[in-house]
This record gives sequence, C-alpha cells and structure tokens, in this order.
Amino acid sequence: MKLNKLSNPFPTVGYYGHEYFCDRQNETSHLIRNIENGNSTTIISIRRIGKTGLIHHVLGQLPKGWKGIYIDILSTENINEFLNNLATSIIQSIPQKSSLGKKFWNFIQSLRPVISFDSLTGAPQASFDISIKKTELNIKFVLQFLDSQDFKTIISIDEFQQILNYPEKNTDAWLRSIIQQLKNVVFIFSGSQQHIMTEMFTSPNRPFYRSTQFLKLEKIDIDIYADFIVKQFKKYNKQIDLQIALEVIEWCNIHTYYVQQLFNRIFSGTNTNVTKEIWHQQANELLNEQETIFINYRNLLTNSQWKLLKAIAIENRVLTPTSKDFISKYNLGSSAALLRSLDSLRKYELVYSEFDTNGKIYYSVYDVLFQQWCKGKILLN
Ligand SMILES: Nc1ncnc2c1ncn2[C@@H]1O[C@H](COP(=O)(O)OP(=O)(O)OP(=O)(O)O)[C@@H](O)[C@H]1O
Ligand SMILES: [Mg+2]
Repeated sequence: MKLNKLSNPFPTVGYYGHEYFCDRQNETSHLIRNIENGNSTTIISIRRIGKTGLIHHVLGQLPKGWKGIYIDILSTENINEFLNNLATSIIQSIPQKSSLGKKFWNFIQSLRPVISFDSLTGAPQASFDISIKKTELNIKFVLQFLDSQDFKTIISIDEFQQILNYPEKNTDAWLRSIIQQLKNVVFIFSGSQQHIMTEMFTSPNRPFYRSTQFLKLEKIDIDIYADFIVKQFKKYNKQIDLQIALEVIEWCNIHTYYVQQLFNRIFSGTNTNVTKEIWHQQANELLNEQETIFINYRNLLTNSQWKLLKAIAIENRVLTPTSKDFISKYNLGSSAALLRSLDSLRKYELVYSEFDTNGKIYYSVYDVLFQQWCKGKILLN
C-alpha cells in the first residue's frame, strides 16, 4: 500500500505504515513465527500501548502464501453483526477485479447478503438479515471457505472480548468449536479490556482456555523510542536533542499513545529546534485542555475513590495499597473500604494492575495526563 506522506510524523490514531511505526521488531518476528507454525496468538497489554498498531504492522508483512484479514468487533452487538463485519472485511481485503477477488465475491454473494457501498469511500459492505441459526451456519461457511483455499489465512479479531456481550448464549464456545476444525486459518485475538481477555484465555472453565499462545506487549524500549523520535524530526528538517526526547518520553511514562499525542503537539508547535520551553508549554496546554475531563472524574466518583485515584496517580506505582504508610499519607480510611474503592477504579478502567520485574503486583493510573495533572503542572521557565 502506497501512502502519502503525513504532515505530522506522530499520528495519534490509526496505522500508517512502518515509517511512522517505532520498533516492535521482536514482537513482529514472534507473531510471524507463530503464524508460520500455525499457532494462534492472544495479544495482551494495558490500554493504548499499541496492540492494534502491531496487528496492522504484522499484517503488512506476512510471509508468502498468507493472506490477512482484520476485523474490529467493538461496535458489533450480536453474531449477525459479527458476520456482517467478517464478510465485509473479506470482500474489502482483496481487489474485486482479481481472480481471487472474484472468487471471494461469488462466494459471499452465494450467501445472499445485501451489498451496499460506502457513500464516501465506495468500499463494499455486506449485511445479512437472517435467523440466528442461519447466521451461525454462514459464519461457519465463511471460515470453512477460507480454510479450503490454496493459501493460508490469518484472521485478527480485535476487541474480541465484545463477543461476551452478545445476547446469544455461549458464542465463545460455539466459535471455538468451529475454529478448532480449521487447518489453514490462524487467529490473532486482541482486546483493550485486559482483565477480560486474560480471563477468557486463562480460565480453565472458559472455551478458549489455553487455545492460543500469549504475547504480552510491554512498553517500547525508551532508548529506541527516543532515537526514533529524533529521526522523525530530522526527516522533516526539524530538530530535537536526544536528551529532550528522553525527558518527554519519561514524562509520558513511555506509554505509546501519550508519547505520540505529546510529540504530535510538540512537532506542530516547533519550527526548527525543540527547546525545553516548547515542550513544557505544549505539555501544559495539553493538561489544560483535559482539565474538564479530570474534574469530571471527581464528579463521577465517590470521595474515597477520588482520593485513592489521586493518591495512586501521585505515587506512580503502588505496591501495597493497604499499607499503613500509604493509607495515613493520603488519609484513605479503612483498608476494607480502600479495597472496595480500588476494585471500582479498576472496573472503571481508571486504574490497572501489572506485575513488576520482581513479579510483584502494583497499581497505576491509566491516564498519564491525569497523573501529571495531579502532580502539578510543569513550571514554565
Ligand atoms: N510502535 C508504535 N510506534 C508509533 N506509534 C504507535 C506504535 N504503536 C502504537 N502507536 C500509536 O499509539 C496509539 C495507541 O496504539 P493502539 O491503538 O495500537 O493501542 P492499543 O493497545 O490497541 O489500544 P487499546 O487498548 O485502547 O485498544 C495509536 O495512536 C497508534 O498510532
Ligand atoms: Mg486496540
């Protein structure tokens, strides 16, 4: 795919090819190795680290003899919409005029969907208006059709945890039973709700238990990221010192989405050389813009939840939230009440838990900007 040069080399949504994508070489090789060996993979990480980007990156460099299909099922609400999404991705993934494209079209049309065309892009879209039984059968036909081709297929299903919200019962069990029979189709599953995704694939009572390999996506190495940033500026005839790039990435907790977001701003706010003043100003502006959202957190939460959220934000990482020191430092009340608040904050996806390098569980807030806002703005010099 030939893409036009972006006016800003730090996109904050979507995937625009390897030129705008930092590293992930090991993860890409790992995924390609799994694909070649016929192993499906589940990608797990905290939010906004780069799972979706990585999937697109891998699909863009599949080995010979493989075709890739990507579906994001976040907006689907039942298996009928799942089928529509899958069929649409299939007909969009291969040019209709090629001989393979014709074969795909003929097959999808044999299932009698309504085909419409997107008014803006002209891209074809398939939708079915059929019973649940027929829908299940059609999904099976589609997967078996792909399985019977003389090439192999990798299907990536993003936001996979969404199938648990479908009103049809046991969609996961039923889907797993079909997938199990496929010989030429390999899957990548991913989803932004880490705890649900982990549950789906690691609990013995779940249909997808141990059905895939795991890839835990960590933060990008800070030195590699800083190097990438410096090079991106250079490509556009602008300049940033390695030291400043490192400072900014550190300020963003090396969290991909926030790093991209802040550099997008710093890049557009710089004509030649990034100074400390420029990055501080851009960071403060970003915090000012988000202030309404942060204040709204306070309105949505109980007082104890709000106090705990701020305390975790200021601490960066909390290893033992029920420790006396932590509780008294932030005046957080009883440990039982604190644990209840912690549970709610995790459910609201404001706080996540991870294991540190010593295997100890810790808690952090998701929103890096909120964290910096709690710590106070950077003093402009
Ligand atoms: N390796 C990378 N280099 C540069 N930018 C990246 C990289 N990976 C991801 N991004 C950017 O970071 C942002 C977040 O990435 P992405 O959407 O892939 O994360 P995610 O883990 O799928 O998030 P979610 O958990 O919300 O689904 C996107 O804007 C994407 O363009
Ligand atoms: Mg994603």
